[in-house]
Amino acid sequence: MDDPTTTPPREHSERPSDALDADDFRQLFRAGPTGCLLVDEEGVVRDLNRQAELLFDYGAEELIGQRIETLVPDRLRKRHARHRAAFARAPSLRPMGIGLELFARRRDGTELPVEIALSPVDTSRGPLVLVSINDITQRKRLRAFGAGVLQGAEEERQRIARDLHDDTAQALSALVLRLQMARRTEDGTRRDELLHEMHSEIRRTSEGVRRILRGLRPPALAEAGLTAAIRAQTRETLGEEGISARVDAGPVDELLDHEGNLALYRIVQEALSNVVRHADATKVVVSLQVEDGILRASVEDDGCGFAVEAEPASNGGRGLGIIGMQERATILGGSVRLESEAGRGTTVTVELPVPGAVP
Ligand SMILES: Nc1ncnc2c1ncn2[C@@H]1O[C@H](COP(=O)(O)OP(=O)(O)OP(=O)(O)O)[C@@H](O)[C@H]1O
Ligand SMILES: [Mg+2]
Repeated sequence: MDDPTTTPPREHSERPSDALDADDFRQLFRAGPTGCLLVDEEGVVRDLNRQAELLFDYGAEELIGQRIETLVPDRLRKRHARHRAAFARAPSLRPMGIGLELFARRRDGTELPVEIALSPVDTSRGPLVLVSINDITQRKRLRAFGAGVLQGAEEERQRIARDLHDDTAQALSALVLRLQMARRTEDGTRRDELLHEMHSEIRRTSEGVRRILRGLRPPALAEAGLTAAIRAQTRETLGEEGISARVDAGPVDELLDHEGNLALYRIVQEALSNVVRHADATKVVVSLQVEDGILRASVEDDGCGFAVEAEPASNGGRGLGIIGMQERATILGGSVRLESEAGRGTTVTVELPVPGAVP
């Protein structure tokens, strides 16, 4: 682009003497906190700021003079050119693509979901459009997680209702019937038989209620502590599948509050469930250690592995497990790292800061 400092200054008779000059405005544009591009009527990039360079992984000198469609995924280029022509006919300040999901393309061809606003400007070089671009990957992840949580809660309620109806309510009705029969019968042997049946039925029902409760709340967590709960969960989840498991645990039980322990328990639960469902593993090592004020938990399997990069940002809304793990850890100021190699297995590592510990 031409050097803006060579453009003749516009007439502003009342401008104070300490007003910013063209150089300052260029600096301001370059330093803008969101990605910005200036595009001309032909759809050619005339300038961009630092944040836009970072967002797309291009240097300004590479993009200036290129068509804006360079930054649009192949599959959306035609649609984009049509929309751009329509905008050029009636330019106005507005968000782009109302009601559409917008995606931009980085230098390496990967896509990122974006929100775009357009503002036409008349400059001494002719009409340009100022395009501001926000990366909304994070926001979309959160929204997907929130929607998943709501849907999960709804499904959970339905499952509990079904369990209570099919197990508990049915069993109680059967008990009432037997009780009436026992009261009516004159035959002592028959009464004993009915009482015996009722006894077994009550035991079964109470075990059923316990099972429903276990599904609602990790039983061992509050009573037996984090390590014991994770040991039990690992045994239960993997044992049934014939996957051999080892849990290496340091002194981690007293480090987090209940919320932290629950989050860690749920994260390990999801990692173990992913091993069972996706990994085709034969061996798993779960490790719980504390070092320098960080509680580090990992679940390592020797299964088939997967392309971590493709998950979960572009998983097209398939699973929410990994997103959920990341959100749980983030809420507690921690993080989740996934390392995976095809044929070699996967390691999920969670790091949570220990409250009150000096890092
Ligand atoms: N240990 C693993 N081994 C192999 N592939 C895995 C492993 N963990 C996750 N994956 C892959 O990552 C994808 C995303 O996992 P995620 O937990 O987010 O979703 P999901 O398990 O498919 O569904 P959900 O957890 O929502 O029920 C899985 O579909 C699977 O392809
Ligand atoms: Mg999962």
